[in-house]
Amino acid sequence: SSSVSLPADPADALAQLRRATDRCRECPIGEHATQSVFGEGPPGAALMVVGEQPGDQEDLRGRPFVGPAGQLFDRAIGELGWPRDALYVTNAVKHFKFELRGKRRIHKTPTQREAAACLHWLESEMAQVRPQAVLALGATAARAVLGRAVAVMSERGQWHTGPRGERVLVTLHPSALLRGDPAHRDEAYAAWLDDLSKATHVLR
Ligand code: URA
Repeated sequence: SSSVSLPADPADALAQLRRATDRCRECPIGEHATQSVFGEGPPGAALMVVGEQPGDQEDLRGRPFVGPAGQLFDRAIGELGWPRDALYVTNAVKHFKFELRGKRRIHKTPTQREAAACLHWLESEMAQVRPQAVLALGATAARAVLGRAVAVMSERGQWHTGPRGERVLVTLHPSALLRGDPAHRDEAYAAWLDDLSKATHVLR
């Protein structure tokens, strides 16, 4: 558990939490994953970005948002002028959940019970990083951060308040854009950028 004493230095505390998530078996997902994928970025980052869970490439490389969804995210933040190394990037769930189809590992959405079991790790990251604001990508992240079910399509692009007073901006997960109707991809991307741009002031 994460309730053991943590080092006073946030960077050291985050490193200890990272090692603890790798060993975590509080839900069944960790047993099958390659490793945990913990958050990445400076403690004290003004903006914390929260995704759902690592994907196939993140699981193999041990870093968040480095696969196709991460590449789309990187493109967007590049257009917004957000340096990725100024962000603390993490996920609501720390291990990759998948289903084997032949040799392919197909992403499976974590259950609410699994996300709830993992929540204390995210709360520990928030306590160490102490961001000024949180960007929640998709319903799993939004629910974890806001502590309630979130209808992403009606609550997107708006600032919400988390249970401890956190400022939380909600938008779609980049994977939703990758899966979306190709005929509407450009407008969906533009609307997503517009949502994200509402957090630009946090980084200034
Ligand atoms: N999708 C996520 O939610 N997080 C990642 O790290 C990668 C893909």
